[in-house]
Amino acid sequence: MKRAQYSAIGALRDGRQVEIRALRPDDRADLLAAVDRTSGQSLYRRFFAVRRGFTEPEIEFFLNPDFIDHVALVAVVEESGRPVIVGGGRYVVMQPGKAEVAFAVVDQYQGQGIGALLMHHLGSIARGAELEELIAEVLPDNIPMLKVFEKSGFRLSIKREPQVLHVALRLF
Ligand SMILES: CC(C)(COP(=O)(O)OP(=O)(O)OC[C@H]1O[C@@H](n2cnc3c(N)ncnc32)[C@H](O)[C@@H]1OP(=O)(O)O)[C@@H](O)C(=O)NCCC(=O)NCCS
Repeated sequence: MKRAQYSAIGALRDGRQVEIRALRPDDRADLLAAVDRTSGQSLYRRFFAVRRGFTEPEIEFFLNPDFIDHVALVAVVEESGRPVIVGGGRYVVMQPGKAEVAFAVVDQYQGQGIGALLMHHLGSIARGAELEELIAEVLPDNIPMLKVFEKSGFRLSIKREPQVLHVALRLF
């Protein structure tokens, strides 16, 4: 399957179906709506800063992964019969073999396994692309994110600094 057409079906803890699929150019409105539904604390944990909105160049960047060095997946569930984006994860290659990952799930859907699913699928795409390592910067109190990394099945190492944890996952 080509990465830009990636799609897989999974289940939330409550049994509802969730699709993990490649972000598409026509997801703009839905992605921005998901950001609107996400709390300030969650956005802070994702972006390390108080974010009330994004600049047009930032939005363009988020919406246009090339699926080579920048791969973005979204989690989609049905709400009132309509598919809705409730989370996303992406990696961006920083240097050969090494990419930075980041995730965000709408608060109302956190703790349902979406983070773990996004991690699983991004990890398998990254392995397919023969990347060696995924790295992330995580705030020290971000237990859910650390749990997702610990449960990924990949070898985890953490370098601790007072303000930030540097996490690395070995893919091979
Ligand atoms: C981090 C994040 C992506 C994880 O996604 P998620 O869908 O909530 O993750 P999952 O449901 O797969 O797993 C979360 C785990 O953390 C656990 N958890 C949640 N809150 C917790 C808490 N306060 N203390 C301990 N564990 C907690 C959950 O129980 C679950 O563990 P389990 O699988 O052992 O039950 C999501 O919480 C999020 O969007 N956070 C805000 C943005 C962010 O922090 N991004 C990371 C930037 S690198």
